[in-house]
Amino acid sequence: MHVALHCGACGLEHAIDQPQNLCTSCQKPLLAKYDLDAIKSRFTPDVVRRRSLRSMWRFWDVMPVDDPQEAVSLGEGLTPLLRCQRRGPFADFENLFIKDESFNPTGSFKARGMSAAVTRAAALGIKHVALPSAGNAAGAAVSYAARAGLRTSLFVPDDTPPANIIECDVTRADVYLVNGLISDCGKLVREFRTQFGWFDLSTLKEPFRVEGKKTMGYELAFDLADAFGSSDLQLPDVILYPTGGGTGLIGMWKAFDEMQHLGWIGSERPRMVAVQAEGCAPIVRAFQQGERFAKLFENAATVASGLRVPAAVGDFLMLDAIRASHGTALTVSDEALLDGVRDLASDQGVYACPEGGAVWKAARQLLESGWIKPEERVVLFNTGSGLKYNHLFPPTRCKRIDHRNPQFEHQATT
Ligand SMILES: Cc1ncc(COP(=O)(O)O)c(C=O)c1O
Ligand SMILES: [Zn+2]
Repeated sequence: MHVALHCGACGLEHAIDQPQNLCTSCQKPLLAKYDLDAIKSRFTPDVVRRRSLRSMWRFWDVMPVDDPQEAVSLGEGLTPLLRCQRRGPFADFENLFIKDESFNPTGSFKARGMSAAVTRAAALGIKHVALPSAGNAAGAAVSYAARAGLRTSLFVPDDTPPANIIECDVTRADVYLVNGLISDCGKLVREFRTQFGWFDLSTLKEPFRVEGKKTMGYELAFDLADAFGSSDLQLPDVILYPTGGGTGLIGMWKAFDEMQHLGWIGSERPRMVAVQAEGCAPIVRAFQQGERFAKLFENAATVASGLRVPAAVGDFLMLDAIRASHGTALTVSDEALLDGVRDLASDQGVYACPEGGAVWKAARQLLESGWIKPEERVVLFNTGSGLKYNHLFPPTRCKRIDHRNPQFEHQATT
């Protein structure tokens, strides 16, 4: 493996062959650094295209394995990039796409991160992992840990979506419902990990979840090239990403740097847009106030549970990427993001998670303000399936009908 671990803030190198969490000097995230010059001649877009491996592990040369056979995989990645139909409120966008991460095992993009992190944890001989989660990461963690034969202890807020709690419970993992936020869950993991021998799998507090999520950036370049019939890899003008801990945004930004170093793309970059909920927007606030580190967002509340992250250890990495890309950060209200889910379902056939509804509504806001131009290539990340959030969508339009005496209120389609 041509990889080393360096602190994302102070640069200090850490041993790769033993379990690592945050930088031992400054307590910031560690990032994997590959010897890209050593693999450049054999790792090319054409080589990737020819591989038959049907998962994100087709990018294994820039992931923490020597051989893709080592991967703990359930078939994650290779999600579709869907071109939006120009219908209803979507009609004004000429080149709008959805990268639909709901196709992943366990129904969300968290599968990518967990596949990579559990692969590395298992390779290092770890037997028991623990993590706080907003819900989807928990579902992914228990599944990949089960696949690898590891034990999992999970800490989730007690109002986490029922679907997430159930998917964890059925795997016989140790699930703790905490009367607090994800930050309180994280504190419990920190406090008890030594006593119980847990490896802390919190996002960005171990170095490999981001390595899994960065594959979204690699894939996107191939997807977009295919969409435009180009043999050269292509990046969009704008990426909208629903931001909690920010691992996906940081990962994609890292992927673009690696791809440039490999000679796959030039110095062009998409404008990165972080979308948060009005009720929990630490990154948007820090962006607007010109700060590099975000303050804890007090009384965080939103139905988009993946966005209910009041403090993120990778805040500076996100804010650096947003600024370097000439991107922006904005909020969407809960009412609007739920409406966004209905727009995506009714006009695009995609039953998105509320976080996906949020990025769509944010794209509309940015088009209306002129920040996005109608002809620009824009990618929305739908990070998970709406099916995990059925509790937010009690049916409002269904009508009862008597099959013996059917009465219809609507008109015939002519
Ligand atoms: C569906 C969904 N979207 C977005 C996020 C935020 O992801 P990230 O931590 O990469 O910012 C989460 C996190 O839980 C999520 O579950
Ligand atoms: Zn450091």
